[in-house]
Amino acid sequence: MEQVYGVIGDPIGHSLSPLIHNDAFDYLNMNARYHAFQVKGEELEQAVKGMKALGIKGFNVTVPHKVSIIPFLDELDESAQLLHAVNTVKNEDGRLIGFNTDGYGFYLSLKEHIDNTNPRDLKVLLIGAGGAARAIYTTLAKEGFAFIDIVNRTAERAHLLKENCSYETKGNVYSFQQLDQTSNEYDVIIQTTSIGMKPNIEEKPIELTGRVHGGTVVADIIYNPLKTMLLKEAEKLGLKTVDGVGMFVYQGACAFQIWTNAEPDVSRMKKLVYEKLG
Ligand code: ATR
Repeated sequence: MEQVYGVIGDPIGHSLSPLIHNDAFDYLNMNARYHAFQVKGEELEQAVKGMKALGIKGFNVTVPHKVSIIPFLDELDESAQLLHAVNTVKNEDGRLIGFNTDGYGFYLSLKEHIDNTNPRDLKVLLIGAGGAARAIYTTLAKEGFAFIDIVNRTAERAHLLKENCSYETKGNVYSFQQLDQTSNEYDVIIQTTSIGMKPNIEEKPIELTGRVHGGTVVADIIYNPLKTMLLKEAEKLGLKTVDGVGMFVYQGACAFQIWTNAEPDVSRMKKLVYEKLG
């Protein structure tokens, strides 16, 4: 029998998840399909019950349900407990188990670009303190990144992120104005806010000049547009850049593995997404 997988969110029409997962099912000769389901906040509980009743094997969870779905699940894996959010659900014989692959997905995409450098030696600047920033901060701290500064419009939110994280890191918290008054230089800069996303493609959160050296890696989790102003500036300065496709594809690949125990071809997934967005 065909196995059914999917993603729930609102809005969901532009999701690229069906593209990468259906291609992986086809490529691996698996009898399975992945569908996008629009689910409104007030219908979330019903939708989750429906997923269970229908025997949907697994699904992704996106905005705005990543936190509010938690009470409707039977169990949380360590990753979801750590990040206090769920982006992947696996149906194990009728029990719905929540996972979170966002942070690890980002970590894998960044790892491709930092070669063999020990993360303990890297000075990181994280821009943003929302849900995506929390997933990334916590995962990097867990994976041994020892120094992470956070800059956010609302510095208070960044303080909370740091205080509530289960792993300790060195590093300070700044508002954008406070960061402007420092001359800090970073090895890795990670942009997690919506600044620079369509339609505001002319915006960027910080000036890179004075904050970087020749080997700095600049990552932006936005993939719409593929090259944000921040990444364009980084390229002009000759720096290594990481766009949001890497995180998107790796979080999807990790979810696929959780559901099926099969390893999808990440480079194939990336190619598909670039073709679609390029
Ligand atoms: P996500 O789950 O995508 O991280 P979120 O939790 O709503 O979304 O977080 C959005 C992040 O983008 C926050 O860091 C937010 O800053 P505040 O904490 O000050 O709200 C940041 N952000 C969004 N719009 C912004 C803007 N116009 N200028 C500066 N920061 C912005």
